[in-house]
Amino acid sequence: MKNTVVVGAQWGDEGKAKITDLLAEYADVIIRYQGGCNAGHTVVVNNETYKFHLIPSGVLYKNKFCFIGAGTVIHPETFLKESQELIDRGVDLSCLKISPLASITLPYHIDIDGISENSSGKNKIGTTKKGIGPTYSDKIGRHGLKIQDLYDEELLNSRLDAILPLKNKILEKVYQTKTYSKEEMLEYCKKYAEIFKPYVCNEWVSELSKAIKEDKKILFEGAQGIMLDIDYGTYPFVTSSNPIGGGAATGSGIGPTHIKNVIGVTKAYVTRVGEGPFITELTDEIGEKIRTIGAEFGTTTGRPRRCGWFDAVLSKYCVLVGGLTQMAITKIDVFNNFDEIKICVAYKDIRNGQIYKDYPTNINIHKYLEPVYETLKGWKSDISNIKSFSDLPENTKSYLKKVEELVGIPVKIISVGPDREQTIILENPFK
Ligand code: IMP
Repeated sequence: MKNTVVVGAQWGDEGKAKITDLLAEYADVIIRYQGGCNAGHTVVVNNETYKFHLIPSGVLYKNKFCFIGAGTVIHPETFLKESQELIDRGVDLSCLKISPLASITLPYHIDIDGISENSSGKNKIGTTKKGIGPTYSDKIGRHGLKIQDLYDEELLNSRLDAILPLKNKILEKVYQTKTYSKEEMLEYCKKYAEIFKPYVCNEWVSELSKAIKEDKKILFEGAQGIMLDIDYGTYPFVTSSNPIGGGAATGSGIGPTHIKNVIGVTKAYVTRVGEGPFITELTDEIGEKIRTIGAEFGTTTGRPRRCGWFDAVLSKYCVLVGGLTQMAITKIDVFNNFDEIKICVAYKDIRNGQIYKDYPTNINIHKYLEPVYETLKGWKSDISNIKSFSDLPENTKSYLKKVEELVGIPVKIISVGPDREQTIILENPFK
């Protein structure tokens, strides 16, 4: 059994898509297990750029079973646009399947997300405004719609009767916005039932059981990152799902005993979009330099990303809560021209000098914490075309060794540029 999860081990945007894309070649089944169209996964193949939000990037390969799991939330319009764009570019989507248990992001979820964000002033989360929080709230509150509801008229009617009266009161009285009639919602559901139809996989239980029985290689594709996890991230500045390794089990429909490896993808530095604490954030010219060289602007919203030094305290925390077995380090080439590179090894409380070597989860104290750094020498050369670990400059090797030593798990994949070819794979979990 070689089944492997790929998770972001920072605040998202770590370059997971590139790693999943590389591993997808060797996998038989690829499952996206959480999140929705808040994600933005960029894959570059032969100088062609593909931007995925919901659809697993594994569709770029032929003959894979690509599955959007029950832990995801699907915004119909985004799905339609994304699938159509891929079809227009000649990508065959016959391998793409959706769990009938996935939740649907409805128009009012987007309305609510936008209104909440715009009216929260300094308390805003900085969401992508894609309706993610409101969709997951309704799912957990048992007021949501699932894909399978679209195909059972009796069930759909009773669900809408249960959901709409209260939702409309809330929309009208609390959010002071548009309400939705049952007829309007039925029309909407009818339209998207047709669009989803070729993809809905009612046979998922037998398909996944068969995959397990035949020892197929299963790749679980995470979205966002562990520090955005609803339970373990910097709450409330998080997304509303579980990107951690454990989320792969609940979100895919394949239990934890069928998972072997969890690869935590981290950048050689840290970025964050949206609000929330970020202890190693650099608001100076070094942060600006990382942002410019690393082209750190959001795929989904275009927002400039906040940038900072690699944080080993945070990474160690991700190893624990994410169940990480190995690391993939991306964008290390961004440091090609740096004289020195810093790694945060601890936090110091400026009020009393207390040193934290383990990540403190009460974010209220983060404003009092400053990073304690170790400084390493840069390599001052272009490593973006180096194909093997042994050819890397000694200072790059020292940097990677230091990261391994501090975080406590091995680095198995090193990405030195955006293209598939620009990757040093020390060990492929599927080989
Ligand atoms: P939401 O997921 O749209 O509710 O946003 C909640 C937080 O997660 C915000 O800080 C977003 O910027 C962040 N977020 C959501 N999706 C991503 C992603 O794919 N990459 C990075 N940050 C994300």
